[in-house]
Amino acid sequence: MKARLDSLTAEVLDRIRAAPSLEALRQIEQTDLARKGELLSLMRGIRDLPEAERAAFGQAVNRARQALEEAVAARRDTFSSALVSAAVHDARFDPTEPAEPLPRGHLHPITHIRREIEAIFMGLGFSVVDGPEVESEEYNFDLLNIPANHPARDLQDTMWLESGHVMRTHTSPVQLRAMRRAEGKVPLRVVAPGRVFRNEQTDATHEHTFHQVEGLMIDEGVSVADLKGVLNLVLGRLFGGSIEVRLRPHYFPFVEPGFELDMRPAGSAGKWLEMLGCGMVHPDVLRGGGMDPERVSGFAFGMGLDRLAMMRYGIDDVRWMMSGDPRFLQQF
Ligand code: PHE
Repeated sequence: MKARLDSLTAEVLDRIRAAPSLEALRQIEQTDLARKGELLSLMRGIRDLPEAERAAFGQAVNRARQALEEAVAARRDTFSSALVSAAVHDARFDPTEPAEPLPRGHLHPITHIRREIEAIFMGLGFSVVDGPEVESEEYNFDLLNIPANHPARDLQDTMWLESGHVMRTHTSPVQLRAMRRAEGKVPLRVVAPGRVFRNEQTDATHEHTFHQVEGLMIDEGVSVADLKGVLNLVLGRLFGGSIEVRLRPHYFPFVEPGFELDMRPAGSAGKWLEMLGCGMVHPDVLRGGGMDPERVSGFAFGMGLDRLAMMRYGIDDVRWMMSGDPRFLQQF
């Protein structure tokens, strides 16, 4: 059987090398190398061989098959390079003709803004982290001081999953994930951009899926002054000018005190623009994250990206953002 294998292999190899066309090569593949071809029936004959010879024979068949397949591929290459060189030598072929431009994708306006914000924060020693969009009730609510019966839960129109998980309603659960990962070590400086979800009627300024960046800085002695200073600097860089910010008291269960931050160009008497929610991380939240509120303190903020992108690019309807409409996307 081994002798038959060798002679068969040599015979087919010769035929492959001599194949005059792609079509002839395909014929050889469909007969000699096919399941019903002699080579594979030899393989089936392995059962009749004495036990001791089977392995060696099996390997020989595989080697033969591989050699034949390589020969086919090599022969096919000679045909395709012949085709290419024929095309190149065709008088109508002009290699100096510029190629058709490749269609290029576009970055989403949210991606532009997100990357800018990440770069600014990274320059201040923050790292970029993320967390799951499908969140547990514990991380989205309980650990953020929003217990089951707390009216604050009504502030957020939540999309609940049958599993009892939620589509995260904000990026704040990442605060807890980052704190727990730090295992009590400070300084901790992170930003966490991502998608968030609310069960809302959509209109030009409301969308069920939108984007936030969460920020968290924890260390010994972090104060409201740090919060205000960092955000003043970041927003100034983002808007490319000198700005002033003001804090207005606002209630969020996971910070104390909590604020809304407004900004306007420095020295202007113009209207204040509401930018984000922020505050000093509540001691209960710190404890839930494994931090000791007697020793460390921190600030947190959550900023919406969609409205920023809308302001930056003059977009009038937030629903464009998730529309996936190329006529929209191609503009950025
Ligand atoms: N998570 C809040 C929201 O979605 C924003 C926020 C984050 C407020 C951090 C304070 C601190 O509205």
